[in-house]
Formats: sequence, structure tokens, C-alpha cells
Amino acid sequence: MPGFHPFMLPARRAVALSLVCLTTVLSTLVPTPTHAQSAILEGERFHPQLGEHGMVATSHYLASQIAHDVLADGGNAVDAAVTAGFALAVTQPRSGNIGGGGFMLISDEKSNEVIAIDYREKAPAAAYETMFQNEQGEAVSELSRYTHNASGVPGTVAGLALALDKYGTMSLAEALAPAIKLADEGFIIPPRFAEGLEQSQQRLKQWDSTRKVFYKPDGSLYRAGERFRQPDLAATLERISKNGPREFYEGKTARLITAEMQNHGGLMTAEDLAGYQPTIREPVHGTYRGYDVYAMSPPSSGGAHIVQMLNMLEGYDIHAMGFNSARTIHVMSEAMKRAYADRAKYLGDTDFVDVPLAGITSKAYAEELRAQIDLDRATPSSEIAAGNPLPYESNETTHFSIADDSGLAVSNTYTINFSYGSGIVVDGAGFLLNNEMDDFSAKPGTPNAYGLIGGEANRIEPEKRMLSSMTPTIVKKDGRNFLVTGSPGGSRIITTTLQVVMNVIDHGMNIQSAVSAPRIHDQWLPDEIRIEDGISPDTIALLEAMGHTVSQQEAMGAAQSILIEDDGTFTGGADPRRSTSSAMGL
Ligand code: GLY
Repeated sequence: MPGFHPFMLPARRAVALSLVCLTTVLSTLVPTPTHAQSAILEGERFHPQLGEHGMVATSHYLASQIAHDVLADGGNAVDAAVTAGFALAVTQPRSGNIGGGGFMLISDEKSNEVIAIDYREKAPAAAYETMFQNEQGEAVSELSRYTHNASGVPGTVAGLALALDKYGTMSLAEALAPAIKLADEGFIIPPRFAEGLEQSQQRLKQWDSTRKVFYKPDGSLYRAGERFRQPDLAATLERISKNGPREFYEGKTARLITAEMQNHGGLMTAEDLAGYQPTIREPVHGTYRGYDVYAMSPPSSGGAHIVQMLNMLEGYDIHAMGFNSARTIHVMSEAMKRAYADRAKYLGDTDFVDVPLAGITSKAYAEELRAQIDLDRATPSSEIAAGNPLPYESNETTHFSIADDSGLAVSNTYTINFSYGSGIVVDGAGFLLNNEMDDFSAKPGTPNAYGLIGGEANRIEPEKRMLSSMTPTIVKKDGRNFLVTGSPGGSRIITTTLQVVMNVIDHGMNIQSAVSAPRIHDQWLPDEIRIEDGISPDTIALLEAMGHTVSQQEAMGAAQSILIEDDGTFTGGADPRRSTSSAMGL
């Protein structure tokens, strides 16, 4: 076990941070954040958008504009979020959706309440543990990714409608109107949209119903600069607008989904659709250097492990160690490995399995794990197994963030899993079905598409929700909404969100810098640190000398984020990793 190191905060100081009122402690023991002033300082490389009354940050400028207009017209953050959610289903069909599911965190400062809406897809009632295995008992990824059985029962329509009903001021018809108009009249295709179609064309051209949407009548793909209209999707949204959210689950749309399933041997039935309900859950709560961190609870692993990693990292003076220095990346990577090892063993849908959440998120367990970290040497993943949190028990996705000046903040991540999900459009309904069933462990111990290992806790069971990594997160400071963040990126979601939090709290970055800064990722298996462009060769050499394998990868995540300054100014950071990203303040 390593001894005390100058970069380690003594354990009692770390504990003090979590127990004592923060304002004074922060000024003496941890770096002084500079973000309170930095949003308006000249001389920085990155500048956030500013707003006096609110902020929206989404992955598509049309959705951001629509959400901005809702706020400008007197709607609240939830109205704007639901409207943006439906708009993204039209403008960004690779991940925005009504055929998938997700999680929405809502913080209401006035009632001091943070709730999580779980609208994750569910396995159909006829699903069974070995449904994606061949006769030899081997997992067959083709089955869990590209067939009608790859789809869980979609939750997005019910989830967004529930959020609006509970916290919104608009009717569902009003929230759907901009999406219906966009689907009906169309919009001009941006380059990113056209590139996405081209990259996925092998999959998209496989199904007649999908070709009808994404290919022109002459058989060629839509191109940048052309107008893209979706009449079937417009009609589906119009039906939901007229008849309410249950139309999707019990009306003509449900019948179209059921017909699609029956025509292609899918397991999902009318009863599965009629039985779908979203759930309100308590988010996972932790603290980091005195800030309150709220993030998504199971069936997402996001909240559990962002809190677990922050707890481990709280014991180091990350600010003094420096942003993306070899030392900082080393301890981040070691914390990430240990969290992902636990993820593989313990995480699943808490409606079906017991997850030792209190243990995983406890400061004491983090201290035990931190003590295993050698500050000078990488621990090979083969030497890391899931720990034992039980004694500590006390009893292409898209993300958007929206906040308003009534004290509401919304952090929403939703998905159809891969870019374009299963690649299967429901014939006549105009939307893509998810392939979220691949997020279950097709066979415990076999990695999913993101290389994530799942255990027994995440085995397929009827009506169970598959484990997710989505990490919609809201950080509060002294009871006020402070940071609203989250990201797409499969297994990289949790670590991307972690780094936005650390960039703001440890490194004092303004929100645009925090979002733009180069990222790293380690998920235990494979045993490597993935880095984005922007980490120096010297740093890589130092990491390799410590025993790490480092691999440079394409950009990770797209963390559309908002930071609210002490004076109430809203600052927005659009992630440059998506060319259509947009933050707009008002
Ligand atoms: N489908 C990716 C996730 O939910 O984590």
C-alpha cells in the first residue's frame, strides 16, 4: 500500500470536506474555483454563452432555438426540455427519438427537490435470458443489435409526457407543435446529418421502411443542403398531440409497432406497449468538495459510479496535481478502473436485483479503494476485481441541459442506443426503433457493444430495464442549481460527465472550457487509457512509464452543459465535438 503522498489529502481532511459546512473549508483546503468570474473575462480561449433569465444547451441548433423560444415566451425549463426532446426526435433521428428511452433529472430549487424520471425501455414480457445466444450458448451480437428483438419497449413519449404533466405549464399539444411542423415542412440537412446517413447506410438500406425515410425516391441518400421531410413521423406526432401519450402505447401507433413486430418475428406485443409506464425515482446523491451531486440512479449505473469516482478523487489535491497532468490522469484512470469493475458485478435494474448502492457511493468504501491506488504505478486491470461494498451498505445517445430563472433545471439524456438504433423504422409510423436490448448481458461476462462487461445482475428478464451508463447530472451549491451536465457516448458517458464536474470544481474552468477540454477514459476492460487529441506526448510517456497502456481515440462524448454563476448569470457550453451543438441564453 502506498504511503502518504504530497498530492493526497489526509483522510481526515477528505472526511471534513464532506461533513463540515463548506464555504470556509473550501477556501482553505481545496483550490479556489475561478469560474464565478471567468465567464466574462477576456483573454480566455473559450467563452460560454451568457444569459440573464435562462439557458439551453442541446446537440442541435434547431432544438436549441425552439427550447429558447419556449423560455422566451414564458415557459419553464421543463416545458422547454420536453419541447426540445420532441424536436430532436425530428432533427436528429440518429439519437433523438420517440422509439427509445432515457432519464430526466429535474431540480426545483423552490421545493429543494431533485427527482429522476426513469423512462428507460423495458424488455418485452416474452424476453428470456438466452434469447441472444446460439445453440452453443455463445452470445450473438447480430441478434441483440440489428433485429426486431433488439428493441426494448420504448419509454420516451410516456417519460416526456410525465415530466410535462408534473412540472410543466404547457399542454402536450403545445410541446409537440414545433416538432410536428419540422417533420411536416422539413428542414435543411446539415453536413453532420448527411455524414451520419452515409456512415450508416449499410444498415439503413436493409429495411424497406427505413429506406422510405432516409433515401430519396430515386434510391440515393439525402445529402447536405437538401430539405428533409418526414410525413409519417409528422402524422405519428400529430396523433399523440390529439389523443395524448397513451396513443403511442394503445392507439394506431401501438398497432403499427405491433404489426412491425409480427411481420418480422419480434417478441414485443400490444400488451407490452399497453403496460409500459415510466417511473419516478430518487436520484443518487453524493458530495464533492462540498458541492451536492445528483445523478441518475439504477437502472443507470451513471449516478452510482460518478459519485464513487468523485469520492475516490476527493482524497487528492487534483488542482495542485494539474489539469490532465500525468499524475492527475493516473489517479483518474485508477479510480475509473475500480468503479467499472464494480459496475460489471453489481449493477442492474433495482426493480429486479439488489444493488449495494449505499456501499458503492459511501465515502468509507471510496477510502478503502483509494488506499489500493499506488501513486506511481498502474494497477493492471487483471489485478482489479470488483471490491466489496456490501459492508458499507447502511441500509449515439444525446444529452441536453436547460435551466430557467424560476429555479428549475433539467438534465436529460435519452437514446436509441447505437446511431440510428436497430436501423429499423416502424413502417408507416416514421420513427426508428432502439436496440437497447444489447445493453443487457447477452451472456454474463460477455462484453456489449461498448466493451462493457455485465454480470448476473444485468441478465435479461421479462419486463426488466437494461443497465445504462447515462448520467444526467445536476450539481448544487449551497442549495442553488449550479451545474447541469451529462453526455452521450456509451461507456464513456460516466467519465465524460465526471470530467466536466472536475474541470469546473477542481480546475475552476468556465463551462465552455470545461466542456471543450480534452478527455480521457478508462473502463477497466480493456486495460487501457483512451485519450483524445490534446494530451502531450510527454504526458503519454510518463503514463506509459507508470505501466499504463494509452491509446488515442476519436472524440468522446458531447456534454451540452450549463453553469449558473453566483450572481445568477447562466452560462452555457455547447460541445464542439458535435458540429450542430448549440447553447443559447436569454
Ligand atoms: N445505450 C447506452 C446506455 O444506455 O448506456
